[in-house]
This record gives sequence, structure tokens and C-alpha cells, in this order.
Amino acid sequence: MPKSWVRQRKRDSYYKKAKATGYRSRAAYKLIQINEKFGIIHQGDFVVDLGAAPGSWSQVAVELVGKEGRVIAVDRKRMQPIDGVTVIRGDLTHPDIFESIHEETKDGVDVVISDMAPRLGGNKHLDHARSISLAETALDFSIETVRRGGNFLAKAFRGDLFPAYMEMVSSRFDFCKPHSPKASTSSSREVFVVAKGFRG
Ligand SMILES: C[S@@+](CC[C@H](N)C(=O)[O-])C[C@H]1O[C@@H](n2cnc3c(N)ncnc32)[C@H](O)[C@@H]1O
Repeated sequence: MPKSWVRQRKRDSYYKKAKATGYRSRAAYKLIQINEKFGIIHQGDFVVDLGAAPGSWSQVAVELVGKEGRVIAVDRKRMQPIDGVTVIRGDLTHPDIFESIHEETKDGVDVVISDMAPRLGGNKHLDHARSISLAETALDFSIETVRRGGNFLAKAFRGDLFPAYMEMVSSRFDFCKPHSPKASTSSSREVFVVAKGFRG
């Protein structure tokens, strides 16, 4: 990481807040802000968190669902355990991992959230295309697992493939909107697709 990036991050208020509150990453505040605005996760929900490491979204999700709810976290990277969260390690672009998660989710889940991001290679177009491909993987997973009426959230990078992705999500959910929470840095091209009311 460049030193200037590390210095800038340490000055960042969400980074400081995350450190102080015990969230594993400043990304926690993106999910908190999205949920405050759109109400995608509720008490008692069964949530699957895709691309979950280091785990701050899962920490937030487990607080939101409470004791009656359930959270499964999936990532290709190793992730430290979180109380109340089932961690599954694997690459979501690999069909085997889909099968092992389906064992856990075969009765349906209420919400799928995905903060999956590709390893950035510096080529904007390629990074964008890879992020859309991961967002499509998340959508495919949600189509197979989310119950009717359930909700979906996925991260993507803005670019020319984004409108077609929005259409794909819109065709499956009653409500679909792109959103950038305040906690996303202003220089970031990331955008979150918020979708509610899965139609099947
Ligand atoms: C921005 S981080 C997620 C941060 C997380 N939401 C949090 O709050 O701690 C993106 C994650 O996506 C994961 N990821 C990217 N591609 C993946 C794939 N094909 N399968 C599983 N995880 C993937 C990466 O390993 C990385 O941990």
C-alpha cells in the first residue's frame, strides 16, 4: 500500500469509528447507512454475506438479525470467527462452493448481501468488468436462494456494463436502486445495488 494511502485512511473518520467500536473494517458503516435508508435486513432474518472477509458486514448483520436470526459468511480468504456467524471458505465463482452453501440454505434465505470485489489490476475497464461479473454471481446466487419477497444488495463498480446489470436485477425484484452511502469514499467508483421484494 502507498504510504499516502495509509496516512489518509488513518485520518478517515469511519476508519477511526470502526477501530473504536470494534468493527473489523470501515465498510461496516456502508451497510449500516444502507440499512438505515432502505431497511433490507430485519430482526429474525436469515442473511448470507458474500465476500465477507474480514467480517465487518457480518458483524453488523448479526446485530441486525438478533438472536432469532442467522448469518452465513462466505469468502475465499480465511476469516476470523464471529459469534453467531457460520463462516464458509471458498471461491464463489467455483460451482462446488455453491453446492456446499446450498446445503445450508436449501429452505431459502431472507437476504443476500455481497461486498465482493475483484483484486484491482489498475485497468479501469477490466476492474469494472470483473466487478460486474462478481455482482452477477451474487445475483445468480440470490435467485437460487432468496425467498419470495426477500432482499438483495450487491456492490459493483460504475462503468458501461452497469445499466445492463441494473436491468437484470430490476427484472427480478419489485424495487431496485443504485445507491452510494456517505461512507463510500468520494473518489470511489463503487456503487451498491439495493433490491427489495424478490419476485421469483
Ligand atoms: C471489500 S472486501 C469485503 C469487506 C467486507 N464486506 C467487510 O465488511 O469486512 C471484498 C471481499 O470479496 C472477496 N471476494 C472477491 N472475489 C471472491 C470470490 N470469487 N469468492 C469469494 N470471495 C470473494 C475478497 O476475498 C474480499 O475479502
